[in-house]
This record gives sequence, C-alpha cells and structure tokens, in this order.
Amino acid sequence: MREGNPVTVRREDYAAPAYWIDTVDLSFDLDPVKTRVLNKMRLRRNPDVPAQALRLDGEELNLARVMLNGAGCSFKLDGETLVLENLPEGNEPFELEIFTTCAPEKNTQLMGLYVSEGTFFTQCEAEGFRRITYFLDRPDVMASYAVTLRADKTKFPVLLSNGNLVEEGELSDGRHFAKWVDPHKKPCYLFALVAGSLVSRNQRITTRSGKEHLLQIYVRPGDLEKTEHAMNALIHSVIWDEARFGLPLDLERFMIVATSDFNMGAMENKGLNIFNTKYVLGSPATATDVDFSNIESVVGHEYFHNWTGNRVTCRDWFQLSLKEGLTVFRDQEFSMDMCAEPSARAVKRIEDVRVLRTAQFPEDAGPMAHAIRPDTYVEISNFYSVTIYEKGAEVIRMVQTLVGRDGFAQGLKLYFERHDGQAVTCDDFIQAMADANPTSELARQLPQFKRWYSQAGTPVVHAQAAYDAAQRSYSLTLSQSCAPTPGQIQKEPYLIPVTLGLVDATGAAIPLQLGSDSPALGSNHTLVLNETHQTFTFVNVETEPVPSILRGFSAPVVLDIELSDAQLLTLLAHDSDAFNRWEAGQRLALRLALTAVRAEGAPPAQPLSDAYLDAMRTVLRHPQLDAAFKELVLTLPSETYIAEQLDVVDPQRIHAVRETMREQLAEALHGDWEWAFDAHKNNGAYQPDATSAGRRALAGLSLTMLCLAARENGSPVWPGKALQHFKDAGNMTDRFNALLALVSSGQPLAQDALARFHALFKGDALVIDKWFALQAGAPDRGGNILPAVRQLMKHADFQMKNPNRARSVIFSYCNANPGAFHRNDAAGYVFWSERVIELDAFNPQVAARLARALDRWKKLAEPYRTAARESIARVAAKPNLSNDVREVITRSLA
Ligand code: PHE
Ligand code: ZN
Repeated sequence: MREGNPVTVRREDYAAPAYWIDTVDLSFDLDPVKTRVLNKMRLRRNPDVPAQALRLDGEELNLARVMLNGAGCSFKLDGETLVLENLPEGNEPFELEIFTTCAPEKNTQLMGLYVSEGTFFTQCEAEGFRRITYFLDRPDVMASYAVTLRADKTKFPVLLSNGNLVEEGELSDGRHFAKWVDPHKKPCYLFALVAGSLVSRNQRITTRSGKEHLLQIYVRPGDLEKTEHAMNALIHSVIWDEARFGLPLDLERFMIVATSDFNMGAMENKGLNIFNTKYVLGSPATATDVDFSNIESVVGHEYFHNWTGNRVTCRDWFQLSLKEGLTVFRDQEFSMDMCAEPSARAVKRIEDVRVLRTAQFPEDAGPMAHAIRPDTYVEISNFYSVTIYEKGAEVIRMVQTLVGRDGFAQGLKLYFERHDGQAVTCDDFIQAMADANPTSELARQLPQFKRWYSQAGTPVVHAQAAYDAAQRSYSLTLSQSCAPTPGQIQKEPYLIPVTLGLVDATGAAIPLQLGSDSPALGSNHTLVLNETHQTFTFVNVETEPVPSILRGFSAPVVLDIELSDAQLLTLLAHDSDAFNRWEAGQRLALRLALTAVRAEGAPPAQPLSDAYLDAMRTVLRHPQLDAAFKELVLTLPSETYIAEQLDVVDPQRIHAVRETMREQLAEALHGDWEWAFDAHKNNGAYQPDATSAGRRALAGLSLTMLCLAARENGSPVWPGKALQHFKDAGNMTDRFNALLALVSSGQPLAQDALARFHALFKGDALVIDKWFALQAGAPDRGGNILPAVRQLMKHADFQMKNPNRARSVIFSYCNANPGAFHRNDAAGYVFWSERVIELDAFNPQVAARLARALDRWKKLAEPYRTAARESIARVAAKPNLSNDVREVITRSLA
C-alpha cells in the first residue's frame, strides 16, 4: 500500500465498529482484465457505539455505483475510503449495493484478487478484502457469505468459494456460474475464491460422529500424483485434532488449492485453504525429506486454524498471535505426535528451537523487535513475524508446561465454550487457560505471566551454582534480565518455567528434593522463576552434580551458565534430556568458534579440540542414538547463531572460522564419516518417515564432509562417488544431498552435476527453485557468489515477479548467505538495495521481507557497518516507497 504518510495504528485505540455487516451477497463476473464485483450487504448500526458515518475500506477499486435500499444515494470518497453519511437512523437493518471493478491481471502484489498462471486466486489476510470490494475490512466484523462466480467455462471450468456449492449451471456466450454459501459466519480476511483449470484429488472420510466429509486438493493438471502426501497429512490432521483436543471438522467440504504465486506459505480461508505449491506438491523424485515434513506441518497448521483462528478469531490484528502462536504450537505438537519413535519428537523440538534461536532471537534484539502482542504497527503485513508465530508458540508451550497437558486441553475446551463464534483477544485466551486451571502457577501469577505478551526482547537467565559437600546441598541461583528494546527501556521480571535435572559424573540422574521436609521430585522438575534473583537449594545431593537446566528448552530465553568442558562432555554423553544433550554439543562448538573468532590475527588453522573431536566421534559411532539426532549434534552452530553471541560481528571472519571447523571435523573423522555414509545410504524404497529421513540426513552430511576433506587432500575418490550417488539417486533427498556435497565443498564436478540437475528437472518450478537457491547460498570462495547471483538473475528461468523464484535467488543470497553477502567492497549491499527498490515497485510484502536482511547492521564491524548504513539510507531516500518497506527502513535507521 502506498499512502502519502504512513499512519501508526495503536492497540489502545481499538474501538468496536460503528456498523455490523450481517450478510454479504457477492457476485463476480470474472475477467482477468476487468472483473466486475457486485456486493450486496445488509448492515445495521452498532447500538453500543455513538452514531457516525459509515466508512468502508477500499483499495485500488473502480467504483461504478452505490445503492441504498434499492435506490441511489449520496456518498463520497475520502482518499480510498467510501463514506456514507446520510444513512437511515435507528437500528433497522439496511441494504447497500456496491458495484466496483478491479484488474486482477495487473495485481502483482498478490493481495486481493489476482491471476496466477491463468487461474484466479484471492488472498485477503490481513487487509486484502478491501482490494476486492468496499467493506469494513477488520476481523471483528463477521458476516454470512453467499458468493456467485461467473466466468468463461473453457478457461475457468472450476469455480470455488467458501462453504457449500448450492447451484451451478450454464450461461450464454460460453460462460457458466457457480453459487457457494458458507454456513459459518466469518471475518472477511477468511474469504476466498478460486477459478481456473484445475484437477482434484478427492477423499471421502467419516469422522467419529459418523458425519461424512469430502476432502479435496486442487492442483494444475499434471500435478495430481504429487498430492498424496498432502492428502495423507490432511486426513491425519482431521483425526488428530479430534483425538487430542476434541475438535471436529465442521464442514461438509474441505478444500486445499495450490498456487505457484503466493507471498506466504499458505492461508486458512474457511473451507478453502490456498497454499503455496511448495507446501502441497511432493513426490519422492521431486521433494526432499524437509519438504515432506514441511508439507505435513503446513497442511496441519492451516487445518488447525479452522478452530484456532476461524471459529474463534482475532478482535484486531494486534491479537494476531492469538491464532498464530497457538496454531504453530498445535502444528508442532501434531508433527511430534506423528513421529513413531519418541526420539524423533526430540529431534523435532531441537529443529524448532533452532529456528527460534537463529531467526527470532535476532528479531527480538534488532530494530523490528516487538512483543508477541504488539502495541503499534504501521503495516500489519510486517508483523507476520517469527516473533508472533514462533515465540508466540513458545509462550503457549510454557502455558502447557505450567498447567500440564490435560490442564491445557481443559483450558482450550473452556476457551471454545466461552468464545466460539467470537472475535477475541489474547487476554481472553489466557484467562480461559487460567480459569480452567485455578490452582496452577499460571492462574496464581497470571498478571506476571502476561508480560510475555506485552514485553519484547529475549530474557537472559543467568544460573550460578554452589555445591556444599558438608551439607550435601546444591544451591542454584537463577537471575533474569532483559535488554531494552525499541520503545521499552525497562522490563519487569517474567514468569519463567525452568525445567531441570541434576546428573552425576557417571551420567546417572540425581533424585531432586528442595528442602528436607519437601517431597521427592523425581529426576526432572520444573522450577518457576518469578523474581529477578532466586535461589533454589536441593538437598541430599551426594556428589557435586552437573546441572542440566532448561531441559526441552522450557522457556524462550538465553541461558547464561558457566559449564566446564568436562561438564558439557558429561551432558553430551549422558543427559537423559535429548534437547540438553544436543545443546551441550552446541555449547562446546560455540565456545571453540567464539575463541577462534575473537583471536588476534588470522583465524587458527585447527579451532577444534581433541576432546571435542573425540566426543563427536563417539556420538557419530554411538550404537543407540538415532541418525537424525546424530546429524543435529554433528552440525555446527550456524553463522547467524555464532554472530548473535558477539557484540561486533565480522561475517567473513565467522564464515572463515566455521568453514575451517567444518574442514577439521571432516578430516579428523574421515574414517568415521566413511563408515557413517556406508551405514546409512541406500534405505530401500523411499518413505518420508522421520527415521528413514534421519538416515538420509546423516548420509548426506557424511557425504558433504567427505567431499570437504577431499578438497583438502585433493583426492578425487569421494567427489567421484558423490557424482555417482547423484546420478543413481532414487529420490530427491539423496540426489539433492549429493549435489549439495559437491557444491558446498566447491568441487569442480559440481558444475557437471548442476547442469544435469537442471536438465532433469527443467519443467518443475519447485525443483528449479532449489537449483537456484543452492547456487545463491553456496559458500563464498574469493567473492564468487555475487557475480554468480547476478548471472542467475539473467537465466531464462529467473522471474522476479514469482515470489518463490525471487526468494530462491535473492533471499538465499542476502538473508541466508552471510559470508557472501557481507563483502568488503559493499557490492552485496548495493545489490540488496537495488532489489528492495525493484521488488517494492510491484510487491511490497516481499520487498519488506528482503528489507529485513540488514536489520542487524549496527552490530557489524567496519567497513561493513558504514557501507550497510549507506545502502539502507539509499533505500530510505527513494520517494514513493510502500508503507511496508518504509516501516522496516525507518525502524532500521532509528
Ligand atoms: N495466516 C496464514 C497462516 O499462518 C499466513 C498468511 C498471512 C498467509 C497473510 C497469507 C497472508 O497460516
Ligand atoms: Zn497461521
């Protein structure tokens, strides 16, 4: 949206709408060039609000006619807002008819009604419905919808909208129509329509109550065989939500439609989810294990929104985490429950925490930091953030930790009993949780817990331990602090659940007891930290223990604890908590990385210690640990995560150090990697389950390590094997991992493999995205990546207007390849500013995401810092920026 001066919206300014819209009857004459929209609505005044004019939101609409109760009426336009001042007095309903046209084909923002590969799609969240018709475009206005679609029958044989198909038929001139009625009231952001030439996979299911439902996945002809996994995920989602939370499917028909032009992952429109193809299409030959698992979780996520988001929605957009944090939590739990092996649950947890720490922690420490329930925004699209989503999910997880799994289910039940059909706030949710669990710590300390909703920033928990051998007591002092964030200088202490255990030197768990008259607590316990400083004393501790704190990552905090290498090695070898076991390995590696980064002069040639290497060998060869877990332990902390630990960041030095560490790990464990590759390759027929995916992941890492080592010792053996493995691969995971091994180790054979890969998959957009992303994200060697990226943008397959493709090249370089992006000559930043401006001209949402790539510029060492600032200023100087980009850039420079 391009508005002269950006307006700051404030949460405290919320006021109920002056009018309610009860019913909406929409008719569309669909034409890519000019679509006609007739919107007939019944409205009435909201008696609780002082009488005032009706102000309807609109954006890029051509207004043809307005009728009030069947007759012409006076109206005016205030900017793009349609204002009706002389409406009938009193509380009687009245009817408005608004006739507008829009140009879907020219809609490059992909908000509102647009055309993708000849098919019509809509995207209305958050404020896209106003680009379709004049409306009260806010989530607390909920209406009943009837929708009639008319279009050319040959070009648009399939006509879909929310709810049930009640009528269809032929029209003159080769056109046809379909009428859909949604039995559920909904806010307009959940409206959707699709019209085009699509085919569907159909599945009838009967749910517990004996009701029949039709599940459908619509894709372009030719993609049907790639929808089996998504359909299975959908069936499992329906079963899971009913089994775990008693939440049934409330629709006769539930549809998913895939589009290759989509700004985000997917959208939960009532009964008509619209998905980025990336999260629907997956066949063993074209999708990796990561893709398969993403498909499962996104299908689940959108389906779970049907209750958490749609049945109960948000009062206003400040409450976004009400639905998003909760639904991410639900999809995370779903993915864990789908794992057959308990160890795979831990792997999923580690992966989720890794995302939080590498993406959300930086956001929380940067210029865009915001609470999970923000107080202000300029452009709501900028707040579909890792904070609202992932940190929001962590806050919900803490609720579950505090009230227990059953208590959580009870709380959710009460939430729906109270609020089904309403648009509510985060306070309403947490109140239901507390009321359903009146004796819980959550209920007892609710105001303090709510600070998680209002305060931004990542708290740091500092842990200090003292063992008293004479008293046989172990006291643990926990203190908390939280750094200032923009607009929030002073923070109040949080309520932090700290799950912990104590381990002895042999790795055995020590029974926990707090004070001699207190009950035994078992070997795993959750402390509740609610003050700035608090000491907990454990009694009957026979020997000095190793503390295992923040098990399972029980709170979204930074744990600052001084553990010796020996203690970390003990945890890595023995901790019963898989998360902390992994974390111990990460801490060891991080310590070595930071030492090498901070050292004077050239980075040390061998940053890794023998103790670390031995421990890694032990994990790799461990007879009991599963492959997925091993792969996580043997993967070094990312460059971004290392950077976050430093006050001054030299991205190239971090990259150099981490690469040296990888090479050392590759060489020192050469024989072990050979063993691991041979032991885990070839898993028979492809199955996307977590266990076989873990084996492929470990084989893939091993192959990368072997190719890296070959780079050092010059042997052609492993690169040759990798190329062979690439050619023989029976699935995309193995094929892609082999390609990655060659590319990321800079092997000359990589060029041959890349060319073959492109030739093999040239018709498959999602695979070609991988091909682009791999090259733009490859390790920089002498500044070669930026020229390669510029070259890729000239490739015949490159399309800036397709968000997936733009992301595959530009974001893979600017956001995911710090060693290549941060250049001494500032050329990476120049490239970035050019692309932000270029994208902003037609797709502000995508541009604003890219604009975030330099969020942390203030931490950069010179010469990066000054150069980054200059590039940001260059973007800021551009007139006519969208509000989206303007907000990000302004905050960045503040
Ligand atoms: N609400 C969607 C989800 O989380 C995300 C989304 C937001 C999609 C805005 C499109 C536009 O599932
Ligand atoms: Zn969502």
